[in-house]
Amino acid sequence: ANPRPLVAGNWKMNGLKASARTLGEIIAGYDAELRDRVDLLVCPPATLLLAFAAAVNDAPVAIGGQDCHAEPSGAFTGDLAAEMLADAGASAVIVGHSERRIYHGESDADVRKKALAARRAGLTPIVCIGETREERDSGRTLEVVGRQLDGSLPDDATGENLVVAYEPVWAIGTGLTPTVADVAEVHAFIRERLVARYGEEGAAIRILYGGSVKPANAKELLAVANVDGALVGGASLAAADFLGIAAAY
Ligand code: G3H
Repeated sequence: ANPRPLVAGNWKMNGLKASARTLGEIIAGYDAELRDRVDLLVCPPATLLLAFAAAVNDAPVAIGGQDCHAEPSGAFTGDLAAEMLADAGASAVIVGHSERRIYHGESDADVRKKALAARRAGLTPIVCIGETREERDSGRTLEVVGRQLDGSLPDDATGENLVVAYEPVWAIGTGLTPTVADVAEVHAFIRERLVARYGEEGAAIRILYGGSVKPANAKELLAVANVDGALVGGASLAAADFLGIAAAY
């Protein structure tokens, strides 16, 4: 059986208190028919976590963080522990996003520690991987993705406690997407590696595609084998677009 799909919105550094209205629209639009087919997760900036968790209340929309520190507490000015995100109402956290890897120098080993920290706090880590334009152009996509998987993922992962997101760096925020054949190739490769490492559980781990997903291309991208959902940036900031992507299921 295929894992149940997940559409996750990464708001990145966007959103003020007034954005609760967008969350309200997402909750209102997540009707019974959609709830039947797909899980929804919204990852706002950390300043909004408490308010969003309160606004969600009993609605079946999950709330997540965008990054966490590996340690549970301590002298790390400006950082947030996974335990703090959980305390604020998050049930998941994105780790190893390419913007963290690029702008904050995070290595695979750092990302793995963060993923373990997330699990320690009871959060589901969404571990991001993906090649740069230069790596794709030089035919190294699978090598890079394989290395990132080996180095970034925790041991003993299951379909319940890990999500992987494949995001080609060159497709993020650019309007460019890989061909369906390229997405299929990379996702099949990731699945193979997950099954080799985790056995049966590797088949249950959700593999999201991310990078310029919009309502207009969602059907095509989300229909690809081993694509178990989407990690959406820009298009997750408008409820109609986010719900339009989820409706591709
Ligand atoms: O985490 C989300 C991704 O970086 C995708 O961003 O949908 O704006 O291309 P995008």
